Amino acid sequence: MLRPWKMLLAERIGAHREAPLYMQIIHALIHEIQRGRLLPGEFLPSSRELATALGVNRKTIVLAFEDLIAQGWLTSAGTRGTMVAKSLPEMGERRAQNRSMQDAPSPMSAEYSFRDAAPLPPRDWTLKLDEGSPDGRLFPSELLARAYRTAVHRAARENRLLYGDPRGSSMLREAIATMLRTQRGVMATADNVCITRGSQMGVCLAARVLIRPRDVVLVEALTYQAAVRVLEECGAKIVAVNLDKQGVNVEEVERMCRAHKVRAIFLTPHHQFPTTVALQPDRRLRLLNLARQFGFAVIEDDYDHEFHFDSQPLLPMASYAPERVIYVGSLSKLLLPALRIGYIVAPPKVVNALAQQVMLLDSMGNTLTEDAAADLIDSGEVRRHVRKVTQIYSARRTAFAVTLRELAGLADFDIPDGGLAFWVRFSNVRALERIEARAAGLGVWVAPSKSFLARKDAQRGLRLGFASLTEQEAREGIRRLRTASAA
Ligand SMILES: Cc1ncc(COP(=O)(O)O)c(C=O)c1O
Repeated sequence: MLRPWKMLLAERIGAHREAPLYMQIIHALIHEIQRGRLLPGEFLPSSRELATALGVNRKTIVLAFEDLIAQGWLTSAGTRGTMVAKSLPEMGERRAQNRSMQDAPSPMSAEYSFRDAAPLPPRDWTLKLDEGSPDGRLFPSELLARAYRTAVHRAARENRLLYGDPRGSSMLREAIATMLRTQRGVMATADNVCITRGSQMGVCLAARVLIRPRDVVLVEALTYQAAVRVLEECGAKIVAVNLDKQGVNVEEVERMCRAHKVRAIFLTPHHQFPTTVALQPDRRLRLLNLARQFGFAVIEDDYDHEFHFDSQPLLPMASYAPERVIYVGSLSKLLLPALRIGYIVAPPKVVNALAQQVMLLDSMGNTLTEDAAADLIDSGEVRRHVRKVTQIYSARRTAFAVTLRELAGLADFDIPDGGLAFWVRFSNVRALERIEARAAGLGVWVAPSKSFLARKDAQRGLRLGFASLTEQEAREGIRRLRTASAA
């Protein structure tokens, strides 16, 4: 009996209208084979009959058959016609009927819970009070375009548009090592530097080379959640220690070291995330002494070293204990987050281990972006840009503080010496919860206050970036938060 081919295939044809017709016919036939409605060894109608049934040109059917034969779905049986390949197993509904067995649920199906299938947050907020991003609108795009152009020509000339060093572009590693030596007192050479896609990847790689399952890692009671997540993924047992306005509580670190075999501590000493406080020099030294005494490593995440408004920055911990510290930095604030350039500074043996991880993840970074960034650093453009935007951000910081006073009674804050965000402490947790529940409805985004908590009893607050918005935009954002906070 001739099958109702038109009915069988026509419903699938047109389903992917953007694909050429012969491709739609291929998909329709494969679909019917997979469903088990076309069985191995079963003959198809001739190309002429099928063309008539579907109302298409016969050549289209011939093309589809040829492709399916080449792919192994169909077999040509000479003058007898074309059949579904006999070597295919029974599939789909037919298989289930014949063997009275149900397919096991697919690992892609809803029944399976992935390790982390939380939905991504929407990106199209009218106003985003971010956690401290730069204002991408202030970066002169023509400078970047020129640097890319130079990078493309240079890399082509030098035959470097191929797989390269997993540690990253040698130009950028040199440029970063020089910047760190001359501006931050970190005695690095290019051999100490591994380029990453942002400091986020830097933290991730540092954790992967350092942490073994069940290792104890100390973090601060308020911290950067993504780092905690990464450490946990590596099997770390996270222990949170308190912090105050001088930074992490070193006595508590010592107590933890006596109670556990601590493998590492994750810190953001320059501008503590999220509270913005700087870890004071005496505590840095005591902490490094503990690191020597108890044999743990410091992961120093220096994610926003560049902007200082009131005082000279403290030197990174890596500048006085390079053998104890894995130093992670970023060009996201200095240049642009979208470039995705971060770096790790560590002894060469560690850098080699990091490079092995890079090879597993993505082989290497983007040579052109890295060379372009090196060009911008070497030519002095980055320094000029930072001078320009520091003035703008300084004015925005002042204006932000004035507007934030509108939250008086609900929350308080200190004006940060540097970095690009305020930490706003909420004494009135109800008001904070109202803000978090209503902000989205008012078209304003803030990072969830719970995301900063490594310990439930830590004081809750909001980290509000002041640099990426104009004064007017920031005023509007804070006004919306105030509206949201109303009882
Ligand atoms: C503490 C901290 N570490 C790391 C990052 C990651 O930044 P990036 O990957 O853009 O360098 C951020 C982002 O702002 C951060 O706040």
